[in-house]
Amino acid sequence: MNTIHTLKNMKAAGEKIAMLTCYEASFARLMSEQGVDVLLVGDSLGMAVQGKSSTLPVSLDDICYHTAAVARGNEQALIMADLPFGSYQQSKEQAFAAAAQLMAAGAHMVKLEGGAWIAETTAFLQQRGIPVCAHIGLTPQSVNTLGGYKVQGRGAAAAQLMDDAQAHANAGADVVLMECVPAQLAAQVTAALSCPTIGIGAGVDCDGQVLVMHDMLGIYHGKTAKFVKNFMQGQNSIQAAIATYVAEVKAKTFPAEIHSFGN
Ligand code: KIV
Repeated sequence: MNTIHTLKNMKAAGEKIAMLTCYEASFARLMSEQGVDVLLVGDSLGMAVQGKSSTLPVSLDDICYHTAAVARGNEQALIMADLPFGSYQQSKEQAFAAAAQLMAAGAHMVKLEGGAWIAETTAFLQQRGIPVCAHIGLTPQSVNTLGGYKVQGRGAAAAQLMDDAQAHANAGADVVLMECVPAQLAAQVTAALSCPTIGIGAGVDCDGQVLVMHDMLGIYHGKTAKFVKNFMQGQNSIQAAIATYVAEVKAKTFPAEIHSFGN
């Protein structure tokens, strides 16, 4: 079974980490068999599975339900589960209670969104036995304060993003995930941190990549983001599409420049 140590060893060895979102048992088995290293039970399930217009209405019970399903199908991947909107921002104690439910449902690690302001919570969870992935850059749960799904960390905001990453790393984060961040900045963050980084729209130099499974299979009905590649194209099975994703991440051919953002 992959653990946070597997991910750290992969960073040290220069092997890229392939991660996909996953919401149920059959896909968990299939992805695990095709060599996906990390399965993310993401709150993107609000849009991809529940047909809602954002991640905000997703509940802790929803993520627990899908995490338990993924855990039943998984073979060797590390399971990361999202702390949904409203389940952790109020206090460290609230975050621990929610994270403990996710761990009991079968998660090996939780993910929370936010910069340095929430790093204290990262430390609180980590010290109590819960590995944490800190999601920075474009944090979809804050879409209303960000004013849309926009690239983050450009220009003067680059220093703040680096500070956010360092604050979580110093607090003991096991992984830092960057969404929609200029590739050059994500590369600098990756070089500065000893923990692995995962990117989505953050360029090829992150230690690993993640995509939403519905996006990479070309079955999401909504707008396609610049960082998405449809891996079903040219393949005749879902297994082959997932295997190709894993191979391209490991070979550093995905993401290409067309999937990345400049400064
Ligand atoms: O919920 C999710 O799918 C995510 C990814 C976009 C990283 O957080």
